[in-house]
Amino acid sequence: MPGSVEDLMERAAAHLPAPVAAYLAMGSGAGIAAAEATPAWDALRFAPRVLRSVTDVELRDADGLLPFGIAPATLQRAVHPDGELATARGAAEAGARMVVSSNTGTPFRAIAETGVTWWLQTYLPPDRPSAEPLLQRAVEAGAAAVVLTADTPVVARKRDAVAARVWGEIDPAFVGAEHPRTPLEVPERGEGTDRYREKATDLGPHDIGWLAAVTGLPVVVKGVLRADDAQRCIDAGAAAVWVSNHGGRQFDGALPTARALPGVVASAAGQVPVYVDGGLREPRHLCGAWGLGAAQVFLARPVLAALALGGAAGVRDLLLGLAEELVEACRLLGATTPADLAGTVVKSEHHRGDSCGLDR
Ligand SMILES: Cc1cc2nc3c(=O)[nH]c(=O)nc-3n(C[C@H](O)[C@H](O)[C@H](O)COP(=O)(O)O)c2cc1C
Repeated sequence: MPGSVEDLMERAAAHLPAPVAAYLAMGSGAGIAAAEATPAWDALRFAPRVLRSVTDVELRDADGLLPFGIAPATLQRAVHPDGELATARGAAEAGARMVVSSNTGTPFRAIAETGVTWWLQTYLPPDRPSAEPLLQRAVEAGAAAVVLTADTPVVARKRDAVAARVWGEIDPAFVGAEHPRTPLEVPERGEGTDRYREKATDLGPHDIGWLAAVTGLPVVVKGVLRADDAQRCIDAGAAAVWVSNHGGRQFDGALPTARALPGVVASAAGQVPVYVDGGLREPRHLCGAWGLGAAQVFLARPVLAALALGGAAGVRDLLLGLAEELVEACRLLGATTPADLAGTVVKSEHHRGDSCGLDR
């Protein structure tokens, strides 16, 4: 990959209209959680293994897919006219999973036709049945799992006045015919749009079972930072838990995911896989996540930057470039698979202090 992910993101920020660039970068509140994400991965240190053959490194799983995928992000047609379709094409070519936001500006069927392996991300409304038509369309279009974002009982307020303009003032020539806010899979007006768009403030573990029953799909719970919450998800039948603080866009001051991950992994204790996102920018960050026990990692802003600058080819090149760098990193750490990295991260004092919910 020519240049670092941070370079790519800087170039994308310069290329995009200012409100869109600000919308992608922003966190909630004072931006503390957004700012702390990457430094928390940077703080990890490794003890590389030696005298092990690293001739054959295999990143891909039994399905041939990469162990890092694309986190859900709304508004992709504000970033590139082809939006989610280009992201899906790039992910399909690279062999990476894509999680599609329920606020997609591209219909599920068109995304599925790219051949990408995709999961649906959803929020739930107060009136649960009003989500069923959207869920059913995702199932019919071949979603392989459903990701319930659990950290958003309300959308946290953002202070970025420039970013706020993204909702009203994007140049239509830049985003194509349809306004990027048009979430094509959300029910039309009169079909319960407003009821669907509200966020439930009464989510509970029972919603995991409800989603599984309605979709027949494995349910992943996204936005878990605590060991005790991870256990509640598992007890309620979650197929996986996803450590995330929503890219620092929900509660400002929430724990960086690099620090929350070990407690959640300990709680899951191999019962279900643990995924993680938030601020992962360098191959060593991904190695750190795997080393701490994550089964898969997800990226949002780096993919949006690649989409902005290069469309489908940009997304593919980012993913394949990262894969190449990760093979090198694994070799240097003495590992032949991501799982093999377990035990290479040196547990620091701050990890011992972050067992939130573990010492009940
Ligand atoms: C522009 C943008 C839109 C997002 N939209 C969604 C969304 O629709 N649903 C969701 O669960 N998370 C959403 N997220 C959060 C991401 O899925 C993810 O948790 C976070 O951004 C990962 O951190 P990273 O951007 O540093 O890789 C969004 C993030 C960004 C930056």
